[in-house]
Amino acid sequence: MKRINISVGHGIARAFAFLLMSAVCTHLPPALAEAKSDVFASRHPDQFHSWQATGEQSAREDALAEDPRLVILWAGYPFARDYNKPRGHAYALTDVRETLRTGAPKNAEDGPLPMACWSCKSPDVARLIQQGGEESYFHGKWARGGPEIVNTIGCADCHNTTSAEFAAGEPALSLSRPYAARAMEAIGKPFASASRFDQQSMVCGQCHVEYYFEGDNKVVKFPWNDGTTAQDMEKYYDALAFADWTHPLSKTPLLKAQHPEYETWRVGIHGKNNVTCVDCHMPKVQNAAGKFYTDHKVGNPFDNFAHTCVNCHTQDKTSLQKIVQSRKQAIHELKIKVEDQLIHAHFEAQAAWQAGATEAEMAPALLDIRHAQWRWDLAIASHGIHMHAPEEGLRMLGSALDKSADARTKLIRLLATRGISHEIPLPDLSTKANAQQAIGLDMQRINAEKQEFLQSVVPHWDAQARKNGLLSQ
Ligand code: HEC
Ligand code: HEC
Ligand code: HEC
Ligand code: HEC
Repeated sequence: MKRINISVGHGIARAFAFLLMSAVCTHLPPALAEAKSDVFASRHPDQFHSWQATGEQSAREDALAEDPRLVILWAGYPFARDYNKPRGHAYALTDVRETLRTGAPKNAEDGPLPMACWSCKSPDVARLIQQGGEESYFHGKWARGGPEIVNTIGCADCHNTTSAEFAAGEPALSLSRPYAARAMEAIGKPFASASRFDQQSMVCGQCHVEYYFEGDNKVVKFPWNDGTTAQDMEKYYDALAFADWTHPLSKTPLLKAQHPEYETWRVGIHGKNNVTCVDCHMPKVQNAAGKFYTDHKVGNPFDNFAHTCVNCHTQDKTSLQKIVQSRKQAIHELKIKVEDQLIHAHFEAQAAWQAGATEAEMAPALLDIRHAQWRWDLAIASHGIHMHAPEEGLRMLGSALDKSADARTKLIRLLATRGISHEIPLPDLSTKANAQQAIGLDMQRINAEKQEFLQSVVPHWDAQARKNGLLSQ
């Protein structure tokens, strides 16, 4: 296995940068993270232009339209309104503003969501935390951050942009989110003493992870105290009796998985061999002058095959793609089976409540639903799991299938004690719109309010940010 490893900084640049730093730093407090990425365009043009090119990955894929079952499984939670698959980093800010999940707040105190929902979208988050601390950043509703958080994922999310090393062309990777740094410490991987390869994955692991919001101030926390597998995190949440929401049909206290790529990558064959996110998603490439640099167009590594898989594998692109595709298909098939079982379970639980079942009678089945849905969600919300850790994906889905079958057995027995032996019917779930109607979502109103928000509130955010020098153009 060969691996390209370049060091871009050299002695003179380093010495110069050191002088610069000592001259500046002895007199001024440390400068704040620079969230405007185009400030670095002239100094680091190759990195800047490839970073900018994530804007080419603009296709939006509507996951709810592709699979309306999701609407039922996330009923009562904002994901039932809309959920698109991830696209380029250039769109992170646009997408968090436009998603129906963030609602249509009318002013800075208006809900529904907390400040924490900006956390993986922008280097302005790093700047605000440096400026006022975490408590101050997390305080309040999402809309409060509108005029402050205005730049999409950029240099200061992954780099210490104020360091002399960065100015000199070295990576100076850093965890710009203190809550991520604490989580890495909790799993025995303090960033400062981690190897360069570990650090490369850790910067992605600031955002591509499972997390929840802790306490009244809704501070981001990763549930890693017991470890990072599905069961470890399940145990952690159960001990806290934590729930993201209660499902309106079955009344199950449920967990919503985020996007645990870091956790699932760790248990896959590449993670175990410490092949990092960067080896595949940000390879070293050469510019026109033959100089090596890190390609910042984070996207599908198959689009960059000659610089990614080929560094370590001899198979051709088609055969590797075939392997990944067949794993994707296997995961997809099992995913659909779990969803069908879980949907039945939610409706059967609803019927049992309606037939007068008691909380004590329901508890065992609801615990099965909770665990099944967590494992299912964790597997499918981990994008690229068919590549990163297909066995782990199948294992989680397999256990989710078991648990949902257990729930259904218990519910059907319970229904029988109330004299109900017919099959509990499902509504028409053939399209996203039908499924949303079935759970009583007024999509016309939700969409109209969002349009109003985008036209009347968001332009003020940008105008204010421009006035305050937080945006370049
Ligand atoms: C998502 C995280 C991420 C973002 C965003 C990001 N970088 Fe990087 N950058 C990296 C990683 C990872 C490396 C490679 C680290 C290594 O080789 O150990 C890197 C390397 C670099 C280097 C060192 C030279 C090289 O090419 O390897 C420079 C300079 C750099 N980036 C500049 C930038 C600039 C300028 C921006 C914003 C326009 C930016 N980066 C945005 C993660 C990021
Ligand atoms: C500051 C948070 C943050 C960091 C750091 C970050 N990402 Fe992302 N990433 C996101 C978000 C948010 C999206 C989804 C953007 C959207 O759909 O609007 C995303 C999307 C992606 C995508 C999908 C791209 C596409 O075109 O489909 C890939 C792949 C990805 N990230 C890999 C990485 C890797 C590898 C790293 C580390 C080098 C990394 N990310 C670092 C937040 C982050
Ligand atoms: C061995 C190579 C490899 C490593 C290591 C790797 N990935 Fe991936 N990743 C891929 C490939 C290939 C795909 C696309 C699979 C496909 O074509 O369906 C992908 C897909 C993704 C996606 C989904 C993109 C989308 O649009 O659905 C995200 C997000 C992602 N990876 C993030 C990460 C993060 C974060 C890490 C590290 C924790 C990581 N990857 C490590 C190869 C890798
Ligand atoms: C930095 C080196 C490196 C890169 C880059 C890399 N791999 Fe791997 N890959 C490995 C190692 C190491 C193993 C484990 C080999 C073993 O244990 O026999 C592996 C194993 C595999 C396997 C077989 C294991 C399994 O899951 O069944 C597949 C398939 C694979 N890689 C696909 C890919 C694809 C596709 C890419 C590009 C997107 C890629 N790899 C990029 C190093 C790499």
